[in-house]
Amino acid sequence: MTISPLLPVYNRAEPVFTHGEGSWIFADDGRRFLDCVAGIATDALGHAHSRLVAALTEQAGKLWHISNIFRIPGQEALAEKITATTFADTVFFANSGAEAIECALKMARKYHAAKGHPERIDIIGFSGSFHGRTYAAVNASGNATYLDGFGPRLPGYVQCGVDDMPALRAAIAAPTTAAVIVEPVQGEGGARALSGEWLQTVRRACTEAGALLIYDEVQSGMGRTGKLFAHQWFDDAAPDIMAIAKALGGGFPVGACAASEEAASGMGVSAHGSTFGGNPLAMAVANEAFDLIAAPGFLDKTLAVAARLRAGLEDLGRRYPQLVVDVRGKGMLIGVKLTGNNREFMAMAREKLLLVAGGGDNCVRLLPPLNLSEAEADEAVARFAATLDLAGERWDRQAA
Ligand SMILES: Cc1ncc(COP(=O)(O)O)c(C=O)c1O
Repeated sequence: MTISPLLPVYNRAEPVFTHGEGSWIFADDGRRFLDCVAGIATDALGHAHSRLVAALTEQAGKLWHISNIFRIPGQEALAEKITATTFADTVFFANSGAEAIECALKMARKYHAAKGHPERIDIIGFSGSFHGRTYAAVNASGNATYLDGFGPRLPGYVQCGVDDMPALRAAIAAPTTAAVIVEPVQGEGGARALSGEWLQTVRRACTEAGALLIYDEVQSGMGRTGKLFAHQWFDDAAPDIMAIAKALGGGFPVGACAASEEAASGMGVSAHGSTFGGNPLAMAVANEAFDLIAAPGFLDKTLAVAARLRAGLEDLGRRYPQLVVDVRGKGMLIGVKLTGNNREFMAMAREKLLLVAGGGDNCVRLLPPLNLSEAEADEAVARFAATLDLAGERWDRQAA
């Protein structure tokens, strides 16, 4: 037998991690890494946060799962918190980002069908976007790498470029358009933050055309950019529907689709569902994570440390212009575009005991826990600098 018992769909790095503590993670050979991946923007409160551990273990001794045919008070509590702090009036709980997206896309089409316009099915997505791996999600993002070999493109998905506003306006105004789906900060695409003006323009165009606006805040939401949700940096840019996941559970699998009452108006009993979505275990942790992230002052600290980390990386960009093209992103979602191969750079960072994530456009991303300390931010910059030194030597040698 040549295939591994694990389906070989991941290109896994070599360390085997056994435990974590805050922003640090330990391998079975004793190495201690500074974790600026945080489970790809998921472990927002670091590893083994005492309050999350307590919430999980307390709930684990009471009730894990009951099904959504019964009331789940933890869902009601978390939905109250999400609706109290956003544009949304109602929330559906799922287990992952892709499932939250799936709910958002179904909701958009159902909205128009319920209004007597079943022909409005087209979802406008963007090049460079990432919405997850379900059929709907890969069709919405339109990235050939995730579509090739999986049969024909699904009908009802239209692709636009973020920079081609005239084409986008025309697509939004088309009579078969249901919704636009966009990440306010493109994550996997390379930490590209859209401007307030861009979001406001698209918001207005959707409203004029009667199309719905969906934000994918799976990666940018729950404090990652220093506001609870990235679009909240701007006035008059709120969506009709928003997908949330990753940091929502602080590392426990949970997703959510939040919507205005109007956008959700087509979704009655049996329109959607999930066996595990929002089960008591997930809700216990997610409620605690939400309370910690939304607590007064928490995100102010995140923003201050993010600014320090960003400034340190920008300084490295100036010191290593032959290796760093630019530093981009928002808050604790930072991308560094490199001249040399980003995958090689990630491996070299691990040699320097720093974990960084990959990203499109030859970026590496730093997505540390939101409670990273100032000293840890400085340490991340120092380890990044050491990696640049190593990369400079190796890439010079390769070129010689
Ligand atoms: C912006 C965005 N949307 C959706 C997803 C899919 O989330 P999941 O992997 O939990 O299905 C991701 C995952 O990286 C993401 O970054």
